[in-house]
Amino acid sequence: MPVNKYNLIKSSKAVKMPAYVREIYGKIYENEKISRFLDDERIVTLMTLGFQNRLVDDVVKEISTNSKVLQIGCTFGRQIEAVAEKIGAYGKYVVIDVCLKQLERCRSKEIYQNIDFRSYNGTRPLGEKFDTVICYMLLHELPPVTKAKVINSALSSVEEGGKVIFVDYHQPAKWNLLRFLIKPFNRLYQPFAESMWKRNIDTYAKNREYFSWRKKTYAGKMYQKVVAIRQIPVYEKPASKSSFY
Ligand SMILES: C[S@@+](CC[C@H](N)C(=O)[O-])C[C@H]1O[C@@H](n2cnc3c(N)ncnc32)[C@H](O)[C@@H]1O
Repeated sequence: MPVNKYNLIKSSKAVKMPAYVREIYGKIYENEKISRFLDDERIVTLMTLGFQNRLVDDVVKEISTNSKVLQIGCTFGRQIEAVAEKIGAYGKYVVIDVCLKQLERCRSKEIYQNIDFRSYNGTRPLGEKFDTVICYMLLHELPPVTKAKVINSALSSVEEGGKVIFVDYHQPAKWNLLRFLIKPFNRLYQPFAESMWKRNIDTYAKNREYFSWRKKTYAGKMYQKVVAIRQIPVYEKPASKSSFY
């Protein structure tokens, strides 16, 4: 399938990068060399302790071919490509991000499907409904108020019957000794990551009861996939009028 170079994002139309991205992750996301290095699938696999393939494959399984998918935040490695392949040529894939350099990096990978890369902040709904919304390794980077906004914006962007897929860190199991390494690392470099250990994703949802929730953990509970499916309301038939006859 031919690759279309389209949707070049004009920097004048770019959204402002929030302070938490600039101050904490800016050195990585704004630096082309570091970003390209981290984009290597071998590096991503190393950083996810060999679980990248399983996490990506488990996201892909949740997605239907020809569906309309929104992703909040660009990612390193093959995740976006794998989702694009599953959606296929007749679906729609919108990827939003607050960092122009990341959008351009992903766009320049020339993935076969036409992906609509947009400069947009995931704290606000786009105003369109999607079959699926993906937040892949995003939440742990967000301060608490932003996290709540992104989760609720994602939940409000799905159609009835549609789903939001969150993949992120989780509190490791007690026997998982890696937590003694990860905790100090997070405290030094990822200040909001520990909140993923302390609070379940569904507790941020304003309309929690409108969704059915399921969770799966990986790597001795180090990672989680949480899927929220918007329930289809059951409308009760109005009682038929009593008749004289
Ligand atoms: C989705 S995470 C993924 C990084 C992770 N290390 C990975 O590849 O698995 C990082 C991306 O999310 C973006 N981002 C952060 N906050 C955002 C927000 N509120 N709305 C949209 N994108 C956001 C960042 O600019 C960055 O490009």
